[in-house]
Amino acid sequence: MSIARKIVQQKAEAHIKNNNPLGWFEDVYASAQGNELVIPWASLSPNSFMRDWLDEHPFPRGKKALVVGCGLGDDAEDLDRRGFQVTAFDISPTAIQWSRERFAKTRVHYEVLDLFQAPPRWRRSFDFIWEAYTLQSLLSPLKEKAIQRISHWVARKGTLLVVTRGKDKEDFVQGPPWPLIMEQMALFEDSGLKQFEFKDFKDPEKPTIRRFLGCYQFRG
Ligand SMILES: C[S@@+](CC[C@H](N)C(=O)[O-])C[C@H]1O[C@@H](n2cnc3c(N)ncnc32)[C@H](O)[C@@H]1O
Repeated sequence: MSIARKIVQQKAEAHIKNNNPLGWFEDVYASAQGNELVIPWASLSPNSFMRDWLDEHPFPRGKKALVVGCGLGDDAEDLDRRGFQVTAFDISPTAIQWSRERFAKTRVHYEVLDLFQAPPRWRRSFDFIWEAYTLQSLLSPLKEKAIQRISHWVARKGTLLVVTRGKDKEDFVQGPPWPLIMEQMALFEDSGLKQFEFKDFKDPEKPTIRRFLGCYQFRG
């Protein structure tokens, strides 16, 4: 495990012990002091799973996209280049400020927001929602609650694409990240969406990482 990941785990553990399970995100970004190398998930490039999927399933220009837990903004900017009207939010003020500085001329609407405090007007509002690695950063029952929230934001005929670490129920993993199990992925369908694609795969990183990719639509 990298030193950066170990430090993130120590911060998460301290905040969780302090009854503040969402507090460690801002701590990680703020103490990085502008050095993305100490943020284990910050690649400073758009997510290749999202790009590959959208290359195969292009959307007409002008559709509304939402990026959940957008981190340093690379995925949001890629969606903007693809013609979406993009809202991207993160609970960390430092991450949002950092994104705005990196992309000074951006058209993306970046917002500091806790997903559990999202405005009611988001319900059934977004044509494309992209969620990468936020759910795996949450412990139960926040994970399950977040799945419900995110599902409710998918517009009629809209699409939700999720990529997350995956594991079997009996596997023990010292997180964060805390991979999802199949029963948790099934909660998207329990929340009113229909699954039309699911992949359980190993990505080519070394050491390899098991991931789930789920694609869901609302057809109500
Ligand atoms: C593992 S990082 C992934 C960031 C980005 N999606 C990426 O792929 O690089 C998880 C992100 O979710 C954000 N996050 C965690 N809980 C959140 C919440 N309740 N509301 C909004 N953002 C949250 C964190 O601040 C962090 O940026």
